[in-house]
Amino acid sequence: MGRGWVSPVEEGAPDGAQEPLRSIKILGTGVGLPPKVLTNKDLERMVDTTDDWITERTGIKARRIAADDVSTSDLCAEAVANACADAGIEPAEIDTLIVGTSTADTLFPSTACWTQKKLGIRGMPAFDVSAGCSGFVYGLEIASSLVAGGSAKRVAVVGGEVMSRVVNWKDRRTCVLFGDGAGAAIVGPGQGDSGMLASNWGADGNLAAILYQPAGGTQRPATHETVDELAHTVHMEGATVFKHAVVAMSQAAKSAMKDAGITPQDVSLLIPHQANRRIMTVARERMGLPEDKLYSVLHKYGNMSAATIPVALHEARKEGRVPDGSIVVLTAFGTGFTWGASILRW
Ligand code: UT7
Repeated sequence: MGRGWVSPVEEGAPDGAQEPLRSIKILGTGVGLPPKVLTNKDLERMVDTTDDWITERTGIKARRIAADDVSTSDLCAEAVANACADAGIEPAEIDTLIVGTSTADTLFPSTACWTQKKLGIRGMPAFDVSAGCSGFVYGLEIASSLVAGGSAKRVAVVGGEVMSRVVNWKDRRTCVLFGDGAGAAIVGPGQGDSGMLASNWGADGNLAAILYQPAGGTQRPATHETVDELAHTVHMEGATVFKHAVVAMSQAAKSAMKDAGITPQDVSLLIPHQANRRIMTVARERMGLPEDKLYSVLHKYGNMSAATIPVALHEARKEGRVPDGSIVVLTAFGTGFTWGASILRW
């Protein structure tokens, strides 16, 4: 398992073993997606953009938008309830609740605690992971370590966001990219050779300001000025994020694949963070994987930050793309700058 910055991966024969690093299993998955759909055509009426530009530059056609009275924990609670039903357990049987989000309900307490309240459960530890779009992969890494170490048996890992509430709806460079939603997975002990074959995660805080929300925290508390300046919205250097995203996602995944002792031929499905079709394509090519192994829901939901991977994983499972024994590669990048990859054998 890799730690810290991923070293450049040499092509060639993998040297790792195929024994699961951690014998875990995803017992169920579920989503919480708001019903309201905002299409590119709708956006043409809101900002100076076109369906053609958005489709060509990003691959996004539509995204979901939460109703005014819906917060991140509502979507997370719905996703967890659905994942529990899929796993055949009650929410009260969860023994740890981890929420990956950058759009928390409140600065404190955590969105995980609000999610607990909305699920009507209590007692188990509940906490947020702040790793931006890598939040679900970070959460999965923590969950699988807890399960493999024997201190948890049913960990709910959720990625949930209401990005529409932190987007500047007058900034065409960012507002066309994001959507709202949540996805959850229940992680429990594995049997046989199912599990986490390898993983790789890291961060580089020197890149913190390429994608961030400048105001609202202790660096710059909310004032009339911060509100007037729209400093509570997403600030992003798009081209810089693009460049780092491609490198981080492909290197983290390649490094984890090497540690797992697998080749691109062994991979059944690649589920990358869904931010931009071009980022996913270049990362996939660098990993040596063919187009038909890339699973995408980006066109339907846009960039839901921490929610994209669990929502895509859920839909891939429901379409029968993740049969027993298949090897799934998850890889993500996000604000921080963070990255993470997991190699799972189902
Ligand atoms: O989860 C992580 C979140 N962030 C990301 O993943 C973002 C990564 N970056 C990207 O996906 C791309 O950089 C963007 C999609 C954000 C932008 O694509 P790009 O190909 O890098 O475009 P650009 O920023 O270089 O802009 C090209 C042109 C500019 O016009 P000029 O200066 O050439 O006249 C922009 O003003 O496109 C213009 N533009 C738009 N035009 C129509 C920017 N946004 C839009 C828009 N509609 N929505």
